[in-house]
Amino acid sequence: MARASTLKLAFHVYRTGQIGLKSTTNTGFTQCSRRYIQTHSQRPNNLPLAFAFDIDGVLIRGEEALPAAKKAFSVLHGDNPLGVEIPFILLTNGGGVSEETRCQKLSAQLGFQIKPEQYIQAHTVLKNIVSKYVNQPVLVLGGKNDAVRKVAEGYGFKQVYNTLDVLAWKPSAWPFHDLTPEERASAKEVDFAQVPIAAVFVFHDPRDWALDIQIICDVIQSGGIIGGPHVPYLRRKPIDLVFCNPDLVWRSDFERPRLGQGAFKDAFQAVFKSLTGSTYPHVQFGKPTEATYAFAENVLQDQSQKLWGHRQFPSVYMIGDNPESDIAGANAARWKSILVHTGVYDPQMGPPSHKPTYEASDVAEAVNMALDQELGTGRKPDAWTG
Ligand code: G3P
Ligand code: MG
Repeated sequence: MARASTLKLAFHVYRTGQIGLKSTTNTGFTQCSRRYIQTHSQRPNNLPLAFAFDIDGVLIRGEEALPAAKKAFSVLHGDNPLGVEIPFILLTNGGGVSEETRCQKLSAQLGFQIKPEQYIQAHTVLKNIVSKYVNQPVLVLGGKNDAVRKVAEGYGFKQVYNTLDVLAWKPSAWPFHDLTPEERASAKEVDFAQVPIAAVFVFHDPRDWALDIQIICDVIQSGGIIGGPHVPYLRRKPIDLVFCNPDLVWRSDFERPRLGQGAFKDAFQAVFKSLTGSTYPHVQFGKPTEATYAFAENVLQDQSQKLWGHRQFPSVYMIGDNPESDIAGANAARWKSILVHTGVYDPQMGPPSHKPTYEASDVAEAVNMALDQELGTGRKPDAWTG
């Protein structure tokens, strides 16, 4: 029996359980129908699709996993018509801790193991540029206490400072933030008058926007020496400024989306323009940037190589909740995309700013919709009742 029709049959039985008895799994697939498929249809020698999942607003809201996430992951881990593992990665604009630490937490929240090699966060892409700064003093922003410093050192940066170090050095640098005992304990002792900062990396959402905006301006206007004399623009040593997450808003467990790192960037640029008359040139990483999607495609190919012995897969499905980052990036990368209604995007507010391939109520519906499309059952997305 030709392979395509085997797959079609497989999916028909899988979907309808025709051959099977009453549904026994939480994803509606009958054990016996899958057994039928596995014995009657050979394992395909390549898989028609792979997935990239956003996290906030798709799998997680605040600290809680969304119920649909567990359903979706059981399909990816074999509870599907082919009974096979489907390659996937997690691609988030979140961050602030190491990939290993976040994967441990995600595995506990989702009830499925997430391996660091299939997880990409906003600043993971910096691993590709660390060699340029390895022996230079850099300032890292965002996250709690010195968590981001540890991440940067884990990537290979050798001289890593943060704005809490600056406050510990001179509280007058920003008189409106008294260091907590925890912050003081995490701070490094350093005389910034002797440290020419070469670059500023905004790894994750800053905890004190005002403090961080003040210190970025100090670094840039003084050519790297915090508190040093301001250097006229044309004679000023350029300081590299890198942002890792452009999200203006993101979805947590609060009723409405929250301001993200992109809003911090806009606030910084507004202040810098008021001070100097112009905004400051910077590098942007994170979804929807091309650099981040190219990095992700490579990681997905590694996953496919590991699972299936090859790096090609006809279709990548990006499942996201934010049209500006998830869908815009997927469209530009020529991936397929499914916009879910569990996060930033609210269908009540009209059509999304970037058109996805499909829309779905949640991630479980999205995964099944993609399987439907790629395994050729031909069921139209709007036939979906999820
Ligand atoms: O801070 C994280 C937020 O901007 C979005 O995260 O997982 O939706 O890309 P995510
Ligand atoms: Mg999201």
